Parts: sequence; structure tokens; C-alpha cells
Amino acid sequence: MGKEQFEQTLVLIKPDALKNSVTGFIFSQLSEFHTGARFAAAKVVNVSRFLAEEHYAEHKGKVFYEPLLDYITGVSHYSEQDKWKRRVIAILFQGPGVLEKIRSIAGPTNPHEAREEKPGCIRSLGTVVPIKDKDGNIIGSRMDNLIHTSATFADAEREIKLWFLPQDIPPLMRAYPTEVCSTHYYYKAGRLYDAYAPDSLFLLAPGDVAWKTDMEKLRGCVRSEPEKCGLNTVVAKYLINRS
Ligand code: RTP
Ligand code: MG
Repeated sequence: MGKEQFEQTLVLIKPDALKNSVTGFIFSQLSEFHTGARFAAAKVVNVSRFLAEEHYAEHKGKVFYEPLLDYITGVSHYSEQDKWKRRVIAILFQGPGVLEKIRSIAGPTNPHEAREEKPGCIRSLGTVVPIKDKDGNIIGSRMDNLIHTSATFADAEREIKLWFLPQDIPPLMRAYPTEVCSTHYYYKAGRLYDAYAPDSLFLLAPGDVAWKTDMEKLRGCVRSEPEKCGLNTVVAKYLINRS
């Protein structure tokens, strides 16, 4: 398979798309016929705040950051009573030119602009919700735009490794180097351990296949300051749907 075949992108079908039941339309738009791309992996994820913060780290500090986290975790669209419905569908697509093709089908970030500039694109079916301060003044907007797609090759690599374990992807469709783990790894309260600590969560065992870059980070994280070694970016996917 040529290298261009290995171009990959992450798509997230966001909670508003699930709630408004436009998943059929989106899947139809993303089909192999329209995109020339192949499904390489998919999972239904209850997005934790931890994962959301990692995914949207570039927007930390912006006025729409907290509403964005509420949006992607499903809090904006499903009440506490319906919290079991808070999901996104994460999909890995692979094929020549896939990044650009899927971003084009998604359309502009802002659904109002999407309707103006590209009627019929996925995000033209989205909406814009005002963000208010405690006095009720409008201070920004939350863009409910139904779908996320990676913006650059570097973003795609970071995001794919954030959402998917190598074992979620058929071996011949893995685009990034992997490594076989030779140690036990456990996680507790923001720290990594290479032996069981009481109440720690099991992450990896000898023989497990992991992203090579994750293994490099984990080796540097044992007994070190977690924020300095990028531990959260590795751990987040091992905690997906674990609660
Ligand atoms: P995405 O990452 O979700 O595919 O969207 P994008 O590349 O088109 O846009 P990006 O700048 O990465 O923003 C990520 C998400 O944050 C929300 N956003 N709100 N109020 C605003 O000015 C604003 N800008 C961005 C959107 O929900 C966007 O999808
Ligand atoms: Mg983006």
C-alpha cells in the first residue's frame, strides 16, 4: 500500500448530531462513495472531562472553552437524568487526501457561515448558541456544528493516538509505529506506577501493543511530575468508557 493510502483523519460525530438524529445523513456523506476513504476504526465514547480537555487543549483559556467542554461531553445536550445518552461516535478514516476531503464535506466551523458559504455541507445543519455571563450579557458563542475533523496531519496523529489504542484498529490499517510493552503500568490520581499501588487502575501489561510514542512518554513518566511528561495524553484513551 502506498504512503498516500495511509493518510488518516479523526472524525467525531458530536452529541448534537446524535440527539438530533442526523447520524444517517452524516454517515451517508462520509461513505466511501463520497470520500474515497475507508473506515479504519470506530467506537462509541462517553467523553470524560479529562478526555475533552486533552482533545481541545489548544482552546484552553478562550471564552468558549468551558461551553465547548460541556458540549463535547454531552452535558449541553443531555440532562443529568439522561446522562447515559452523552456520547460521541469516534471514527478513524483512511485514504488519499482524506483530511481535506472530510473537512470539505464538514464545511466551515460556524454553522451560520456554513449555510451561507456551502449549503448542504454537514455543518450547515448545525446551530450557534449564545454564551452569557452571570448577568445575562452575551460574551461569545458556542458552535454546535455536529462533527469534528482533524485540521492538519500533526493534529490527526495527536488526535488518533488520543482516541484509539492500536488494538482498536486492524493491524494493516495502523499508520503509526507501535511497540510491544514489556512492563506493567498502573495509574492513580494523576501519577503513573510500574507496580500495583492500592486503588490504582491497570493500564498496560507485558505483551500489550501500544503506540511507540506513548511508550516513550510512559517510560519518562514513572515517578516523575505528570504535567511535565505529558501523561494525560497517554492515559486518557486507556480510561475511555472505564468510568
Ligand atoms: P473541530 O476541531 O471541532 O473540527 O472544528 P474546527 O477545526 O473547524 O474549529 P476549531 O477552531 O478547532 O474549534 C474547535 C471547536 O470549538 C468551537 N469553536 N467555537 N465561538 C467560537 O469562536 C468558536 N471557535 C471554535 C467549535 O465547536 C469548533 O468545532
Ligand atoms: Mg479543530
